Amino acid sequence: MLNMVPGEPHSKAVQRMKILLVISGILLVVQGCPPIIKHSEWTTRASSCTQSLSTSLKYAVIHHTDGNPCFNISACKRQLQNIQHYHMDKRGWCDIGYNFLIGEDGNIYEGRGWTKMGAHTRGYNDVSLGISIMGNFTSVVPNSKALNAAQSLIQCSASRGYLSSVYILKGHRQLRPTNCPGNALYQVIQTWPRWG
Ligand SMILES: *[C@@H]1O[C@H](CO)[C@@H](O)[C@H](O)[C@H]1NC(C)=O
Ligand SMILES: *[C@@H]1O[C@H](CO)[C@@H](O)[C@H](O)[C@H]1NC(C)=O
Ligand SMILES: [Zn+2]
Repeated sequence: MLNMVPGEPHSKAVQRMKILLVISGILLVVQGCPPIIKHSEWTTRASSCTQSLSTSLKYAVIHHTDGNPCFNISACKRQLQNIQHYHMDKRGWCDIGYNFLIGEDGNIYEGRGWTKMGAHTRGYNDVSLGISIMGNFTSVVPNSKALNAAQSLIQCSASRGYLSSVYILKGHRQLRPTNCPGNALYQVIQTWPRWG
């Protein structure tokens, strides 16, 4: 792994490796995007959404699903399927409403993604990315895995230009009359960068 150049002193090789590590660390910070579980990996029901979402969006809007939490991938996938069925069959939508969902298993799940307009915050769907943490966070906060995943998704979305570099972080309740994303989660997001 040290990739020694013949005749090069060991300390020099170590130093070269350190420099490489620093450079790859910087690259990770700049374009660092967390792994995202694709739509096709949690559901067999395809999206029929056609309205595209523009880039450089003004808002990241945080939601909770106000339903059951999930702490492992199989429970989270089941939960996502339930929400998708509800949104498609009961609400008549083209897919699950949110752009992304996050479980307390620490995973990020693609909903409508970055390129299709969501159905999560009436009047703002075309200017925002809707990110929903699965669970009811009225009186409990999401675990740190879920909170870290949400923050890393927001950062990644800004670094890739899906969110404007001067995006504003909002809780759903700041834009519509609702309790979403729950009192406890709403307290937390007010400490995050660019909330306002
Ligand atoms: C996942 O979570 C569900 C619901 O809490 C539980 O019933 C199930 O046993 C868990 N599965 C695994 C593999 O831990
Ligand atoms: C969410 O939790 C709060 C209190 O913890 C409860 O009053 C409310 O009914 C719950 N929401 C749902 C949809 O069950
Ligand atoms: Zn909401």
